[in-house]
Amino acid sequence: MTGSDFGALTVGEQREMHRNPDMPTVIRTKRDGHRLTDAQIDWVIDAYTRGEVGDEQMAALLMAIFLRGMDGAEIARWTAAMIESGKRFDFSDLGLPLVDKHSTGGVGDKITIPLVPVVAACGAAVPQAAGRGLGHTGGTLDKLEAIPGFTAEIGIAQIRAQLVDVGAAIFAAGDLAPADRKIYALRDVTATTESLALIASSIMSKKLAEGARALVLDVKVGSGAFLKDPAESLDLARTMVDLGTAHGVPTRAVLTDMACPLGRTVGNAIEVEESLEVLGGGGPDDVVELTVTLAREMLALAGVDAVDPADTLRDGSGMDRFRALVRAQGGDPAAALPVGAHTETVTATSGGTMGDIDAYAVGLAVWRLGAGRAAPGDRVQPGAGLRIHRKPGEPVAAGEALFTLYTDTPERLAPALAELDGAFSVGEPPTRRPLILDRIG
Ligand code: URA
Repeated sequence: MTGSDFGALTVGEQREMHRNPDMPTVIRTKRDGHRLTDAQIDWVIDAYTRGEVGDEQMAALLMAIFLRGMDGAEIARWTAAMIESGKRFDFSDLGLPLVDKHSTGGVGDKITIPLVPVVAACGAAVPQAAGRGLGHTGGTLDKLEAIPGFTAEIGIAQIRAQLVDVGAAIFAAGDLAPADRKIYALRDVTATTESLALIASSIMSKKLAEGARALVLDVKVGSGAFLKDPAESLDLARTMVDLGTAHGVPTRAVLTDMACPLGRTVGNAIEVEESLEVLGGGGPDDVVELTVTLAREMLALAGVDAVDPADTLRDGSGMDRFRALVRAQGGDPAAALPVGAHTETVTATSGGTMGDIDAYAVGLAVWRLGAGRAAPGDRVQPGAGLRIHRKPGEPVAAGEALFTLYTDTPERLAPALAELDGAFSVGEPPTRRPLILDRIG
């Protein structure tokens, strides 16, 4: 460590930092645009995980990182320190082709729900540490917990047993990267989610700790992504692929369009319902295309090529795995899914063709309906959500339903409707964009 690592600190502050790191100095270092040293990063992550550093100071540091960024070496150290904050799973003794996927976060992005059982039905094994909703995006765990009885709080023994018996487990990270769990929850309520450094380290710390031997990343591009600039999404993809490779885990990133919500549903239970349609051989084309594309990438990385994932949607084997997974985690796959008791429908004032639907605005609307959190520990509403009746490019007649909103708290309907104001248009057909944009690694 050199004096210059501490940037503009006084000599006294530098000496003090070597002896006894303190949070105001670390925050000031990043606030003023300087690099954090390895020692500062290791200390901050450890002290915050143990509760020695409080949320208010960590929130200030996260905002400084959000504004100033971190370079590649800082991100690599921050990621390694988060992995070190907890346990690391190792399932290599099971002799299974272990592979996982993670998304950088989108709107209507329920892909994990059909994808994991499909990949398991094809012969690979998926140990998936999943997350809860973050900012305007939904989380796989919040969605799956809408299934009556389902729990994501399972331990290592159960995960091992499920990998053997079912071929998959979807679980809360728990003891894996506990630093990320705390930082993730804090970012969610301090407007510090949209940071390349914080997204890359958050995802990769969980994924490198969970025991997968190969990894596919779905990096979102467009208004519903955390990073709106396509160049930044590409940079995020490269950063995460490099982190995976440096840790000896073959990693590939697929860049996919997130300008418009995926599928026709956004929310918690309502996205499970659509995932079941996909597993049953139906469902919206974009959800099916992305599920099959990511499954093929995962199976190729895992070296499994006996079955085409598309077949598992036709022959019901993907659905069978999903039901087995849900049952293994305490859920009742036959139980009715909750639906918000209060609804509002947006209708077309004129006819034409549905134009683009802004994914970010829809994500915010669904968050306002109660599908996400405004404070750490808030309970999400399983039945809150939105149904899209007309996707971009589909014909619309005047007076037809375009969106239906669901919530248990009727006072949430007006603010959610306000988010949709200006978020879509009916008239000329929109510009067609491919769903799969690029592939790295
Ligand atoms: N998923 C994560 O796990 N972390 C992020 O920061 C974004 C998406």
